[in-house]
Amino acid sequence: MDDLQQQLICDHYRIKHVLNLVQRELEKTAELPLEQINLCKITMGLAYLAGYPERYHHPLEEKIIDKIKAKVEMSAFDRISAQHQYLETETAHLIEMVNNIDNLSTLEIKRLINQFKRYVIIQNEHLELEENVVMPAMLQWLTPSEAAEIRAQITEVEDPLALFESKELYRSVRAKPQLVA
Ligand SMILES: [Fe+2]
Ligand SMILES: [Fe+2]
Repeated sequence: MDDLQQQLICDHYRIKHVLNLVQRELEKTAELPLEQINLCKITMGLAYLAGYPERYHHPLEEKIIDKIKAKVEMSAFDRISAQHQYLETETAHLIEMVNNIDNLSTLEIKRLINQFKRYVIIQNEHLELEENVVMPAMLQWLTPSEAAEIRAQITEVEDPLALFESKELYRSVRAKPQLVA
């Protein structure tokens, strides 16, 4: 059970990281002349938000919620499931917006920035709701055998950001050996 919670905390940390990264890139984009705009990082960030969370993180949370719902009803659970649907549709919509910006215009960039701002608000509200409701409920209601059952039911997907973190860790460990005087 604990490692499932660790997993969710880690996933949330990375989702927030990517949301911040895309937000910063969009803010930078807004300041650039149109000919210097490069949407590559924004495209990659959105691809991440449509990839790992939808293939692994949301299904994992849905399974956890189903198990807890069998024991206790909380109104937040339905809201969380509805938010998953909404966020998946909205991520696809943002990707479509970026893909369709063939001829960049200031107006389209502004529309994209405003759309993403609304998306971040809902993502943050969603992550917070899960951290305040699902995570404590997991500790209270989910047994170790149920957690193992959930693990067995879902296909593990490697989070591409985990790779970057381990590379960073590797670099920091091997960098600059301490010299003993
Ligand atoms: Fe979620
Ligand atoms: Fe989540």
